[in-house]
Amino acid sequence: MTRIVQEDIQRIYEGLSETERHTLSGKTVLVTGYAGSLGYLLMQFLRTYGDSLGIPRVVGIDNFQFGRPVWADELRSDPRFQLIEGDITACDLSPAADAQLILHMASLASPVYYRLHPIETIDADVIGLRRLLDFYKDRKIHSLLFFSTSEIYGNPAPDQIPTPETYFGYVNTSGPRACYDESKRFGETLCYNYHHQYGMPLTVIRPFNSFGPGLRTNDQRVVADFASNILKNEDLIIYSDGKATRTFCYASDTVTGMLKCALYGAYGIFNIGSDQEELSIDGLAQFYHDVAAERTGYQGRICYRTHSDVHYLTDNPQRRRPDLSRARTLLHYAPQIDTRQGIGRYLEHLLEMEGSHT
Ligand SMILES: NC(=O)c1ccc[n+]([C@@H]2O[C@H](COP(=O)([O-])OP(=O)(O)OC[C@H]3O[C@@H](n4cnc5c(N)ncnc54)[C@H](O)[C@@H]3O)[C@@H](O)[C@H]2O)c1
Repeated sequence: MTRIVQEDIQRIYEGLSETERHTLSGKTVLVTGYAGSLGYLLMQFLRTYGDSLGIPRVVGIDNFQFGRPVWADELRSDPRFQLIEGDITACDLSPAADAQLILHMASLASPVYYRLHPIETIDADVIGLRRLLDFYKDRKIHSLLFFSTSEIYGNPAPDQIPTPETYFGYVNTSGPRACYDESKRFGETLCYNYHHQYGMPLTVIRPFNSFGPGLRTNDQRVVADFASNILKNEDLIIYSDGKATRTFCYASDTVTGMLKCALYGAYGIFNIGSDQEELSIDGLAQFYHDVAAERTGYQGRICYRTHSDVHYLTDNPQRRRPDLSRARTLLHYAPQIDTRQGIGRYLEHLLEMEGSHT
């Protein structure tokens, strides 16, 4: 585990209140899609703090759609973890029958990959969720957290930025991004109805663009692309006009928010991300450039190219910035790491990982 990850998981621990830590105590946790980008820090946190938090067992399910990360094998040596290689649409859920906290993260979050595997994306979000809802409907759980996305807002009107949870969204049902956006929307509808029909404690999280340790450099989200360019000492490549804007949330802030949502224990929908520094993709590239120049003497340029995926820009939202009032008020969520700091931490983590493999 790199120094950055050790600090990040400590920050996650410190970001939880006494009551939240106490709520974790004695609860078996199920994490679906644990081997993905957000699963990494979450699992490292559960591994390091599992004892002091009194978490008896962690069950992880993943079908290794992107291969099997080395760190997933390392978790196996810890008796607290039971890791199942399986697909959430079909695998045996009985090893997680005693789970009281369920985080349903299995999905394909990178647009390039969900466009390549649209039906699998829909199945993980809809059939996978439905299986979990039916399985836990009559069991005593603290909460089931469904991972939706900021993409359910589609391309919001300018007066809906920052975007509150009450905004209904402006989404194309039939385009190449719809497999992701619409399956998340339908997942939210399933949660609404299972909560109202069966009284289940279901919470919906809508994460906004996260990056940091755990995000594979070949993931093909822009935050990973720029890191990959820098590690290979290539120019920074932008596959658009660079004008669309986003806020970017560092992984430890995202995972703190995820845990707060999971521990909420009641029906609710929460934006989680960063509400500061709405940056253009050009601006983000400049940040990566400057941070890398300072840390490694990087001298690449910022260039523009056309992506080989013809739908790379189809229905791409122009702006993304969350209104975090609800999470700030009800969960006391407060992101800590600004974008420049986050980029520095992500790059330092990747460089240390690279160094440890040579
Ligand atoms: N990272 C972000 O910025 C972000 C933003 C919005 C929403 N989200 C949501 O948060 C969740 C986690 O995001 P992430 O970035 O870690 O995703 P990811 O794409 O990095 O990882 C997803 C993981 O789910 C697994 N998976 C996919 N289909 C599966 C299936 N049918 N059965 C079992 N495992 C399966 C994959 O193998 C992978 O390990 C996802 O639901 C995503 O849609 C993430």
